[in-house]
Amino acid sequence: MLSQKMIDRINLQINREMYSAYLYLAMAARMNEAGYTGIGKWLTVQYHEEMFHAMKFAKYLHDQNATVAYTKIDTPEFKEKDVKSLFQHVLAHEQSVTASIREIMDLAIAEKDYATQALAQWYINEQIEEEKNDTQILQNIDLLGNSAQGLFMLNIELGKRDPSVPLDFNKI
Ligand code: FEO
Repeated sequence: MLSQKMIDRINLQINREMYSAYLYLAMAARMNEAGYTGIGKWLTVQYHEEMFHAMKFAKYLHDQNATVAYTKIDTPEFKEKDVKSLFQHVLAHEQSVTASIREIMDLAIAEKDYATQALAQWYINEQIEEEKNDTQILQNIDLLGNSAQGLFMLNIELGKRDPSVPLDFNKI
């Protein structure tokens, strides 16, 4: 059985995952408007991944007979218009998500909540992947050159991202 403090903290994380989804959807819109539809696709796949992260937490609360509370999602905040600055924002955002997940692990350890520790470990591993992906994109921008030709190639490459994420709540 989860503590109320843990239920509240996981509900907060659901909101943060949904904010991440909303942020990437807004970024996808900006990139699509600028003609970078491959980058827009990559960010839209990321939107789905973030919604999956939120759903996985929600399913965990359901499985633990706890209440899921969906709360207001803030308007996405970003000013970046160029691709490199945008991905610097994405990486910094993911680093903040990593810190947020670590707080859940810290709380689970403090409460000797082994089930949530196991769940939090999945997210910690996922965050390694997320930060790695964003770092590699930034490295590719530097390697290709932050030029029209380089960004054209990056746009094609990121447009190949596999969109498959589990959408069935019962198969999470
Ligand atoms: Fe849900 Fe991108 O972390």
